[in-house]
Amino acid sequence: MIMVGPGTGVAPFRGFLHERRARGDTGPNWLFFGEQHAETDFYYREELQAMHQEGFLSQLSLAFSRDQETKIYVQDRIREHGAQVWKWLQEGAHFYVCGDASRMARDVDTALRQVVQDHGGLSADAASDYVVQMSKEKRYVRDVY
Ligand SMILES: NC(=O)c1ccc[n+]([C@@H]2O[C@H](COP(=O)([O-])OP(=O)(O)OC[C@H]3O[C@@H](n4cnc5c(N)ncnc54)[C@H](OP(=O)(O)O)[C@@H]3O)[C@@H](O)[C@H]2O)c1
Repeated sequence: MIMVGPGTGVAPFRGFLHERRARGDTGPNWLFFGEQHAETDFYYREELQAMHQEGFLSQLSLAFSRDQETKIYVQDRIREHGAQVWKWLQEGAHFYVCGDASRMARDVDTALRQVVQDHGGLSADAASDYVVQMSKEKRYVRDVY
């Protein structure tokens, strides 16, 4: 399960993680979280870091947009880890996005298509078909607002 939940979008993923842990699910979990400042806006920091340290949250990728001069967003982290994201997708990962609809979800969608294209060695059209197929299989699901 790959979860992209910057800002308030992290809330449902906290629930997903608790549910998976309670059920004893063993599949790997990867959370991309972003906010403006790590110091003040890292929601559920202790809980998420503890899950990461114990290995239940296999990957925790963080993007604090205003902690440095140049903004860093979750989609930058997705691109940085493109090869691994592609590997997870090929192994059947579900890709969930929650949060801002107007900019974030659009830009994450673009990054997802780019990763599929670059790391899958696909044309833009074939990458688009791959993402459509993921949606049909309910492996690409968004709750954006
Ligand atoms: N939080 C609230 O109380 C509240 C209330 C009413 C409505 N909303 C709406 O709910 C949605 C989500 O808001 P939110 O408070 O959860 O957080 P957000 O506004 O989505 O911000 C969360 C993080 O996403 C970053 N971001 C900005 N543009 C982005 C992009 N194109 N791609 C990826 N990340 C981007 C922000 O960076 P920068 O800000 O540094 O650019 C920030 O680090 C927004 O549409 C917001 O207008 C929120």
